[in-house]
Amino acid sequence: MNAAGISLTVNRCSCTVLGGTGATLLQVLRNDLGLNGPKYGCGLGQCGACTVLVDGVAARACVIPAQEVAGRSITTLEGLGSPHALHPVQQGFVDAQAAQCGYCLNGMVMMAAALLAREPDPSEARIRAELSGNLCRCGTHVEIVCAVRRAAVLLREQRAEGGR
Ligand code: FES
Ligand code: FES
Repeated sequence: MNAAGISLTVNRCSCTVLGGTGATLLQVLRNDLGLNGPKYGCGLGQCGACTVLVDGVAARACVIPAQEVAGRSITTLEGLGSPHALHPVQQGFVDAQAAQCGYCLNGMVMMAAALLAREPDPSEARIRAELSGNLCRCGTHVEIVCAVRRAAVLLREQRAEGGR
């Protein structure tokens, strides 16, 4: 950080935020940039509600000092797709109707997006293991696993079409 603030790339746009001493990445995203996809759950790195991608890797924004990610590329739920063109993972969650209150879904979707970017056809056991650190107090785990499996199919179809 310098006197002018912290420079980041967020959802493919360059920006500079003030952040403030000790501000977390989650605070900067929600308070300075108005990106409310990442949620504040525990604030301790233990629930996954705040998950974002930092250079494509899933990370818990509530425990990352904003200064630590200066110059890095951040993707939030808002940057995955748009209301008119959902990302396949977002579409998978819609198709599977995998929400009750929806509070955990940001983290579930971002974790799934990171997983499927690395592994296009994960087993159910692999999906469960990957999402095991993300808490859902509504207990929609079965639907969430279905959503990720659906998302994997949609992503593979999208890639196949892109390769034609
Ligand atoms: S709010 Fe970040 S892990 Fe719970
Ligand atoms: S749907 Fe409510 S916390 Fe997961």
